[in-house]
Amino acid sequence: MIDWNENYELKIEKVDKQHKYLIQLLNEFKEVFETVSDKNVIETLFLNLINYCNYHFENEEMVMQECNYPDFDKHRTEHDIFFNNLERAKLEYLNGNDSALSYLIEYIEIWIIDHIIMEDKKYIPELAGKF
Ligand SMILES: [Fe+2]
Repeated sequence: MIDWNENYELKIEKVDKQHKYLIQLLNEFKEVFETVSDKNVIETLFLNLINYCNYHFENEEMVMQECNYPDFDKHRTEHDIFFNNLERAKLEYLNGNDSALSYLIEYIEIWIIDHIIMEDKKYIPELAGKF
């Protein structure tokens, strides 16, 4: 469970809102994964999380391109690697490997916070006011 705190804020309202919602979806998914055994419910929440990640990343990347953000390629590569790992775990889970997601939850928690603090914060000077 991740508790939102001000260290995660970029002070870009739209981005902070999306990051908060992403963490909310992750917390919900984690809770359901740990307490509910219905695979359909777990799958639905996991797909919600993946879809919202995709939406949020596309949104960031679009603004980066519009602003000619110098670190765009590196940033997009980080998104792509993360997203591919989620997709791969989804396929493993759908193919019957139940542990594929439990391993993944910790990775997602660490990655999201690390990414917001280390990578997203770098674009504040160029992208603030552009969303
Ligand atoms: Fe990002």
